[in-house]
Amino acid sequence: MTNQILVTGGTGRLGRALVPQLLSDGHTVRVLSRKPRSDELTWRGDLLTGEGLAEAVDGVGVIVHCATGNGRADIAGTSNLIQTATQAGRPHLIYVSIVGVGRVDMAYYRAKLACERLVERSSLPWTIQRTTQFHELIVWMCTSQRWLPMIVMPSGVSFQPVDAGEVAARLAVLVGAPPVGRAPDMGGPEVRPAADLARAYVRSRSGRQPVVSVPMPGAGIRGYREGGHLVPEHADGRITFEQFLAS
Ligand SMILES: NC(=O)c1ccc[n+]([C@@H]2O[C@H](COP(=O)([O-])OP(=O)(O)OC[C@H]3O[C@@H](n4cnc5c(N)ncnc54)[C@H](OP(=O)(O)O)[C@@H]3O)[C@@H](O)[C@H]2O)c1
Repeated sequence: MTNQILVTGGTGRLGRALVPQLLSDGHTVRVLSRKPRSDELTWRGDLLTGEGLAEAVDGVGVIVHCATGNGRADIAGTSNLIQTATQAGRPHLIYVSIVGVGRVDMAYYRAKLACERLVERSSLPWTIQRTTQFHELIVWMCTSQRWLPMIVMPSGVSFQPVDAGEVAARLAVLVGAPPVGRAPDMGGPEVRPAADLARAYVRSRSGRQPVVSVPMPGAGIRGYREGGHLVPEHADGRITFEQFLAS
């Protein structure tokens, strides 16, 4: 096996944390991106159209598949990636997924589950790493409401946010190991009510925006209320939300 690694989504939140770790581990890294080539790591390509994919996959020993778009496109993109990799020497495919994709009924989660099935049923050696929400997602939930008089969070819902850098460290270990199939899930260090996390965000910015918990409808929120996206038994991350906010 070569130490050439292809990272799809290497320009995204998780990918930007993973690529430097792989480089410092001594791997040669290719970053698949639809954007024009900006450095020697970038391989221009598009999972949806298939443009540049065969060249990017050629000769790699491991693919870490972090790319994501809207859910449905992920299925087509993952299918294209698997097809191309199957014709190119069957590298180890590591797919990043989300804790609870089979338990929380949301379109994006259904698409992620469908991608997992494609990976499992492929003839490639594979590993799937599910993680909980990244800290940045909680921040986004707050900042997207910054023009409102208050931040509204779903009542009865908790999150277990994890640091993307720590997820990247877990992926870097998987890159250096043989395929394991479903890897143990990875969650953040604390399970905390959504409103509690939002208040921590407001405090960290010395803001005054009140945070209110409101009952929200829908099957996805019900799945969240039931804790389908949580893995307290895998509270492996060490960096708390407050530590992330302070950094
Ligand atoms: N964010 C979370 O809280 C969270 C939690 C658990 C699991 N995950 C999973 O972790 C993975 C990474 O998430 P993220 O938040 O880091 O993603 P992100 O920041 O939204 O980045 C998405 C990436 O996908 C790439 N991409 C999208 N469509 C593409 C296409 N057609 N062809 C090639 N590349 C494409 C983009 O690259 P270019 O724009 O450069 O082309 C970009 O690098 C995803 O699988 C996600 O489901 C995320």
